[in-house]
Amino acid sequence: MSHITDEIQKLKREKNAVILAHYYVNDDVQALADYIGDSFYLSKIATQVSEDTIVFCGVSFMGESAKILNPTKTVLMPDESADCPMAHMADIDEIEALRKQYDDLAVVCYINSTSELKAHADVCVTSSNAEKIVKALPNKNIYFIPDEHLGQYIADKCPDKNFIFGTGFCHVHTSITAENLKRAKQAKPDALVLAHPECTLEILELADYVGSTSGIIDFATASDAKEFIICTELGVLYELKTKNPDKRFYSVGIRQYCPNMKRITVEKVRDALLNNETQVEISEERRLAALAPLERMLELAK
Ligand code: 13P
Ligand code: SF4
Repeated sequence: MSHITDEIQKLKREKNAVILAHYYVNDDVQALADYIGDSFYLSKIATQVSEDTIVFCGVSFMGESAKILNPTKTVLMPDESADCPMAHMADIDEIEALRKQYDDLAVVCYINSTSELKAHADVCVTSSNAEKIVKALPNKNIYFIPDEHLGQYIADKCPDKNFIFGTGFCHVHTSITAENLKRAKQAKPDALVLAHPECTLEILELADYVGSTSGIIDFATASDAKEFIICTELGVLYELKTKNPDKRFYSVGIRQYCPNMKRITVEKVRDALLNNETQVEISEERRLAALAPLERMLELAK
């Protein structure tokens, strides 16, 4: 173990802390985490760990969700500026205007959203549970925010519902084009295409499997195929390769890189534990308003 890893392990024991990390963070950060997973797994595990402090190696909405669900715990973000741009891509006035227009509107808010947006939503979803949750809602009219692409993908699976889409997007996933993917496929014709639903519909139509980061990892691990083209952020390669040393994984030939997730470094994890300064703070009023849709998600996803 390196010196800094030893230091982190010691600080973790002293502070009774646990480290959670998303699959997109740097490999060395994933290596030292106690739990790694997709957004849904991480939000669930945050409610189950017994430690007093959670160090959340991911972007703001993830740490915020952990704090909303666990108000008595200290939630530390190793880099407070690591934020997901999509989390801000919806508008409260627009939500309120649509509520006036539709009596039975359900505002379905992707977990990649600020606590302010969550506070105005009826239920949260992640890419791994959105279909199940939307299908379980009694409402016919669904306002899906912020991610238009995930919304369209789910709408396709729920033909009985009337969807209104937000206009948010992920710059990492939407920069993957059909041309990139077709070229990658030509180079590796036997490879299966695994895509995250934040990709555009033209990518999803070319994919052999569509799912969350955990879904992609589980699919590749269970598959008899040996080669895969990965249409998501390439941080997933760490777990994919750890679980499947004999399989081959390819990018679509572009930089599939989330700069915000990559802000988290091992040094910042150490400093967060050492200084206790980068704590997630949220007013009780906001927390309670954002808690309701998150709890509803955890309940409906069961
Ligand atoms: P997952 O929930 O699939 O881990 O996705 C999170 C995310 O930010 C995708 O860009
Ligand atoms: Fe946000 Fe996209 Fe980064 Fe995911 S990959 S955290 S959606 S910017």
